[in-house]
Amino acid sequence: MLGKIIKASTIVLILSGVLYAGNFNKQAEIDRLAMQKYFLKKFEDPIKNQNEYFPYVEEAELKKNYIFPLKLEDFVNGTAAWYKPTRDQMEEINEFAPYEIPLDEGRELWVKAFANGKTYSSCFPDAAIKQNFPYYDTKRDEVVTIGQAINECRVGNGEKALKYGKGDIAKLAAYVAFESRGKAINVQIPNAKAAMAYEAGKKMFYKQRGYFYMNCTECHVQGAGKKIRQEALSPILGSVSHFPVYRIKWGGLGTLQRRLVACVRDTGSEKPKMQSKSAKELEYFVTYMSNGLILNGPDTRK
Ligand code: HEC
Repeated sequence: MLGKIIKASTIVLILSGVLYAGNFNKQAEIDRLAMQKYFLKKFEDPIKNQNEYFPYVEEAELKKNYIFPLKLEDFVNGTAAWYKPTRDQMEEINEFAPYEIPLDEGRELWVKAFANGKTYSSCFPDAAIKQNFPYYDTKRDEVVTIGQAINECRVGNGEKALKYGKGDIAKLAAYVAFESRGKAINVQIPNAKAAMAYEAGKKMFYKQRGYFYMNCTECHVQGAGKKIRQEALSPILGSVSHFPVYRIKWGGLGTLQRRLVACVRDTGSEKPKMQSKSAKELEYFVTYMSNGLILNGPDTRK
């Protein structure tokens, strides 16, 4: 009898192992769909579901300032998706969008020849590639971000790498984002090591840490749709679709890596370096959560 049970469970194990072999995004898909479900429910009717999701928000505030129901595609607008004052403010600012000038500069940089006469197109024949970033490089066993790929193109052509986070790298990323508008985010998990990188990013997202003993969810999952100090918090779903952003607080364009490491610091932890292994894995997880959503960058944020 016992032998039979062991045999049966071994078969199940082998089978699930085989299934997993070609299906490295299995867990990630479960996570992504659960995340979507949570947010769709949360923003379906904040007044009706107040007890469950917004117990401490004044009902008058919900009625006056909350936009609902939200559809999946609305989440690419971040805080402006659910909070009327932010939506109005962003619409007004984007009448003369502050990212337009740096975006034009990015376009010029993209076509400007390196010292060897080549341009970025020698590495990226098509600039509409943001939907595939970050990707897992199975030869080098690492997550590769768009900023890193741009710098690797430069170095491969004998140019110096650019500083990460802002300036020319953000302008070039803005150009790539603009060319990729309308494409659906499509992050892949090609093998078991990539699945491990995804899990590491997920841990980075959920682990409580730092001086405040906080994690990302407190502000961007449970906290999304609430306010902290004077900031209305965005859902993590869709939070990457519009990067790089012109942020009024920064007075310029900044990349997703810049935003992510700043948010890690907000948990009271030491800020990881941009493009470090952990910062890239965090970007891998967070971007996977938005798979299927449509790119709409660059954009403006407070
Ligand atoms: C103490 C609260 C807090 C924590 C914790 C926090 N953030 Fe943020 N985050 C903010 C605020 C405030 C903003 C700006 C307003 C907004 O868009 O939500 C922001 C913005 C963002 C954005 C840009 C959203 C957009 O639409 O442009 C991303 C992405 C992000 N955070 C990711 C993270 C990740 C990943 C973590 C965990 C490492 C994290 N945040 C932890 C407060 C926080």
